[in-house]
Amino acid sequence: AGRLRVRELLGSPEPLGEVKVQGWVRSVRSQKDVLFLHINDGSSLENLQVVADPSLESRDLTFGSAVEVQGRLVKSPHGMQNMELQAETIHVVGPCDTLSFPLKIKRRHPLEYLRQLPHLRCRSNTNGSLLRIRSEATAAIHSFFQDNGYVHIHTPIITSNDCEGAGEVFQIETLKEARESAEETHFFDIPAFLTVSGQLHLEVIAGAFTRVFTFGPTFRAENSQSRRHLSEFYMVEAELSFTESLQDIMQVMEDLFKTVTSTVLSKCPCDVELFHKYMAPAQKDRLERTLKNKFVTISYNEAVEILKQASQTFTFKPEWGCDLQTEHEKYLVKHCGEIPVFVINYPYDLKPFYMRDNEDGPQHTVAAVDLLIPGIGELCGGSLREERLPFLESRLQRLGLTDTYQWYLDLRKFGSVPHGGFGMGFERYLQYILGVENIKDVIPFPRFPHSCLL
Ligand code: 4AD
Ligand code: MG
Repeated sequence: AGRLRVRELLGSPEPLGEVKVQGWVRSVRSQKDVLFLHINDGSSLENLQVVADPSLESRDLTFGSAVEVQGRLVKSPHGMQNMELQAETIHVVGPCDTLSFPLKIKRRHPLEYLRQLPHLRCRSNTNGSLLRIRSEATAAIHSFFQDNGYVHIHTPIITSNDCEGAGEVFQIETLKEARESAEETHFFDIPAFLTVSGQLHLEVIAGAFTRVFTFGPTFRAENSQSRRHLSEFYMVEAELSFTESLQDIMQVMEDLFKTVTSTVLSKCPCDVELFHKYMAPAQKDRLERTLKNKFVTISYNEAVEILKQASQTFTFKPEWGCDLQTEHEKYLVKHCGEIPVFVINYPYDLKPFYMRDNEDGPQHTVAAVDLLIPGIGELCGGSLREERLPFLESRLQRLGLTDTYQWYLDLRKFGSVPHGGFGMGFERYLQYILGVENIKDVIPFPRFPHSCLL
């Protein structure tokens, strides 16, 4: 018998002879002359209905058990679904003790409860949908860049550059070094960290390739308790050379957002609907508005003026030269109509050394951009990079970083071109499109206290 997945069976345009399906039982309903099962194998939110003779029932055939069912796929007379499986044999591959199984039949478990079951929550509808959406979104991001002529680069995960202090770093050492005090010897001769951004590596490649991207794990040792920070997350980064305008970078951010979101909505409508219907009823409209409208652009100067004139009182008083706090970012987005907002041209002193001086005053602003989104705040950060050797040299000198970044200065000597790029937090992206409040609910494995499995 041909082994097919639930998704393929449900989508079959016609009845099929001998087929076999493998999965986990989501419900068992036993009637006098018929036995109904619902089977899920992770291929779709929808279950496959199995109809069987009650003689095929066994003690082990329970909610949660793993089964292999063989039979014929027929048009379903039961309305709810197109196709159903008429079972000829049901084999329980792995029984499940329903009493001690922490998931209960036909119950909508709260996310907080599921977060405590990192090893079992993939069996719930919510998590199943999330994992399929993550997978589709990942593929859509790769397609977006590949379709637009970008080359995918695997940037290192272990690196000795901390990307200008983009975030707090995790340092790497061997167990032996940790035991014997790491001071004298380093496995890599110099201290090594888990990457906080692949940007500088992408910039290297952008010296030979005009469009590159990377999409990989990123680590930051900060704010682990927040609803939008993770210590391990995925970042999408792109770098474009021969690019003189920040607008070009912003266009890529907006296109990426809109293309990937449209793809996800069309590829997994049921999975997305689960979130929109039960967790964030307002999110569907918000997202539609986001896709239809052009993102708004304001300058940092304008942002500060808007904040100063706000009737709301902020914990951090808005002041030119100060970083925008999350409360500020959320206010700005609301002020602009609850759609994504680009804030551009930040104060020189707020931003890392590699950002391009706008020369609108002595070291006044740089060509930086943050994309802010409703309910979350910052989704993307990017900039034009300083491609002019003298500017970069003097800035690094002032920071005492000339030696460390000799290689970076080299890039400005051998065919330097105007370039720029950005990074987008993948989990924050998912949080936004699905309307999920806590970032821990959009990752496959939440780090739960005392769980040594994860
Ligand atoms: O704004 P960030 O720090 O930008 C950079 O690292 C640049 N070097 C990227 C570049 O230009 N190539 O980080 C980019 C995005 C943020 O806007 C945010 O969405 C996400 O990464 N991010 C986090 N997401 C989850 N947890 C964290 N701790 C995050 N820190 C940043
Ligand atoms: Mg940032």
